[in-house]
Order: sequence, then structure tokens, then C-alpha cells
Amino acid sequence: MSKTIIVSNRLPVRIAKENDEYQLKVSEGGLATGLGSIYKQGDNVWIGWAGLDVDKGDEAEITNKLKQENLCPVYLDPEEIQNYYEGFSNETLWPIFHYMSTYAQYEQVYWDYYQSVNEKFKKVVLEIAEPGDIIWIHDYQLLLLPQMIREALPNTTIGFFQHIPFPSYELFRLIPWRAELLNGMLGSDLIGFHTYDDVRHFTSSATRVLPIQTTANVIHKDDRNITIDAFPMGIDAKKFNDLTHTEAVLQEKEVYNQIIGDTKIILSIDRLDYSKGIIQRLLAFDKVLSENPDYIEKISMHMIVVPSRDNIPQYRDLRDDIDKLVGNINSRYRTPSWHPIHYFYRSFPIETLSGLYSRADICLVTPMRDGMNLVSKEYIASKTDETGVLILSEMAGASKELIEAIIVNPNNLGEMYRAIVQALEMPEEEKISRMKNLRETVMKFDINHWVKIFMDQLAAVKNHEKSRRAK
Ligand code: G6P
Repeated sequence: MSKTIIVSNRLPVRIAKENDEYQLKVSEGGLATGLGSIYKQGDNVWIGWAGLDVDKGDEAEITNKLKQENLCPVYLDPEEIQNYYEGFSNETLWPIFHYMSTYAQYEQVYWDYYQSVNEKFKKVVLEIAEPGDIIWIHDYQLLLLPQMIREALPNTTIGFFQHIPFPSYELFRLIPWRAELLNGMLGSDLIGFHTYDDVRHFTSSATRVLPIQTTANVIHKDDRNITIDAFPMGIDAKKFNDLTHTEAVLQEKEVYNQIIGDTKIILSIDRLDYSKGIIQRLLAFDKVLSENPDYIEKISMHMIVVPSRDNIPQYRDLRDDIDKLVGNINSRYRTPSWHPIHYFYRSFPIETLSGLYSRADICLVTPMRDGMNLVSKEYIASKTDETGVLILSEMAGASKELIEAIIVNPNNLGEMYRAIVQALEMPEEEKISRMKNLRETVMKFDINHWVKIFMDQLAAVKNHEKSRRAK
């Protein structure tokens, strides 16, 4: 019997030490839920970084705990975390892939560690994998892994999905190790992205950098065919829908209503990242208050920023910039009984998020670049009363599907300002009609649908390839 092996940089659990004992905290993330139907079955397994720097002496205890959940850890030491994770993944690839090329660092040592850590993942995969297994690798931290596994297990089925954008060739070509990265990815049988634009950009980079041929969305390389396609990722929509009716969430909403009464809430939720357009969003909100004094005490922004990658200078700088701008806006407009912005720099349990999503009148999602953006979909799945307005950046992959949102260019302050005013003034019937359509899309094309179409296509391309070779 063949098994399925999922590989990603992080495991779908958080490991924390409490009272001298390691505890596993299950991730609420969509990927963890969607792939749960796969890795939890039989001999299937999910391989990934345990997410913290573990003492050598504790590794056996953690490995055992994880094994019971069909999880298999890769341990990274502090130099690997610094050079592979913070360095090459998040100071080289992340800024280039999000069109922030001036932030990118091209350090040889980062590249050396990126290769050696991809090798480390390969070793763990090869301890488990057998010919005939299906291996599904995720995201930009592991671009070299498909080819490394292909060399060791030439006939195995390898799928790769990239969760962040793939940039245009003009950006991608800046990376000194661009050919090696493409060769790494092309070890796969199927490469998936969220949008057709990403597919187009990848294929164009591959044909310009490497001596390969293409036919439609298939790349021919070394007598192998690699299919490149778009699979827009969904969320666990039913979970977000159903949560809004639970006692815990109803209580959360009740507390909000008591504190803020009928103030209109503009919601903003992100991981701390310069790709998310948080500053631009704040500037647009500032303009709304400065040009419409009637809104004072009638609207407020609830902004959650989840701490992330705080060893990287640009993330620390961004946090300081947000602190300053929020302080500035609050000090200029606040009244004794009202705050324009309620800003939280921490993470919250899913029940709190659900309460906020379902109470929020507007959700403002304005990334400068985003592979998909799942917050926009979580908001829609939580609007069971079919009201609420989504304002969404055209730079998010989700904007290709969520066309009933108010779509904005986050670089256009005037357009963002007008979108917020339009959302605040939108007639109830229009809100409902837009939200009904949005909900149809999000509820139907959920995470389970995404997993199924990727896995079905992976099986199909492999069968096709087998019969081609048999001829
Ligand atoms: C993005 C990436 C993921 C990553 C996540 C959190 O969504 O696509 O691969 O896991 O950000 O970032 P972190 O660096 O904390 O893993």
C-alpha cells in the first residue's frame, strides 16, 4: 500500500514547554485542517520543523509525542534557523516573491544553509518514503526538495504547492541562484499556485532561465513532463460558519455590543508583514476621519496584528511604524469616550476572531501582495447574517474569486478612502446581495475541495506520465 507524505517548513502543531513537559497545541490553520483528512490516516505522515530550538536531550521525547499524531519532526539548530529560515527564506525569497526587491539580501551563507536544510528535510523524507508513495511538498522554504527527492526516488509521485505569489521574471531573475531554484521545483510532477498569473510567471521564468520546452501548461524537461496549474486555496468554511452560533462566540459578540454599542467596526487582521499594506490601511482610515468629521465616535477600526518573524529588521521597523501611526491617529481624533483605533499586537483564540468577524461591519484587507489571503475568506464564512462589506486589494490572489468585494489598489490612497466611505454608506440590500454571492463561492470552494482537486490532478498527471513512458 502506498502512503502519502506531506512536507512543509512548519508542522501543523505548536510545541510549547509547560511545567517542564512538552505540550502539542494543534494549529487552527486551514492547511492543517484540510490536510488532516490525509496525514492522520494509516501510515501517512506530515514532516516539518518542530518550530522551536530544542535541546538535543529533549528530541526523543518530542519525536515520540509527535509520532502519536502521525507527525515527524525536522530539528533545526540556531544557525539553521538564522540562515535558512530567517535568512534565505524570509530575507531573500519572501521580499522578491512579494515584489519588495529592495528588501532582499543575497548572502552566500543564507544560500549554503538553504541547500543544507533542504538536504536535511530530504534525509527525513527518505527515511520514511518508499517507491510508489505520494509526496506533497509545500511552499517557498523547500523549493529544492522536489528535485532532491526525485534523484533518490525517480518514479515517486511528487506534488508541490507554493502558497505565496510567484513574481514576474524581471523580479525573479534578480536572485543569483534562480536556475537552481527552478531546477529544484521542476523535480515535481505537478506544481500548483493560487492563480493563473502565478502559473504564467513561473512558466515564463522557467523558459527564460532553463533550456526547456513547454506545451500549454506542461514543461518538458529531461524526458519528464511537469504540469503547472492554478488551485485557488479555500478555507474550512463550515468551521467558521458554524462557530458563529456557538455559545462562546455569541458571548464574545455580546461583550462587544455592550462596550461599543452601535459603533460601526472596520476590522483589520494580519500577521505582522510589510506585504500586508497595514500602513496604507491606516493612512486611508486617517483620511476618512479627517475628511468626514461626522464619523467621529460613529466608527472605529479594530486592528489585530499577530507577531511574526521579529528577528528580521524590516519586521521590527514595521512594528515601530505601526505603533507610531496608531498613536498619532488616536491622539488626534480620540474623545473621552471613544478611540478611533483599537490596536492589538498579539494572537487571539479562534472564538474571539469569529466574534469580531461576525460583528464587523467592514473587513479591510489591503495587501500590497498576497498569494491568496485567507482572512478575506474567513470574514465571509463568518457573516452568517449575510451583511458586512469586504474591501479587498486587487494584489491578493483572493480578488480573482471574490469579485463582489469592493476591489482596491492599495497604493491608491484616494481609492481606498472612497472604498471605505462607500462601504459605510452602502444600502442594506446591496450589502446582502454582494455577501450572498461571496458566501456561495467561499462555502463551495473550501479547503476540502482544494485538497481534492490537487490530489486528483496529481494522480491524473502521474498516470498520464506512466502510460506515456510505457508506450
Ligand atoms: C505564509 C507562508 C507560510 C508560513 C506563514 C507563517 O502564509 O506561506 O509558509 O508558514 O506565512 O510564517 P512563518 O514564518 O511564521 O512560518
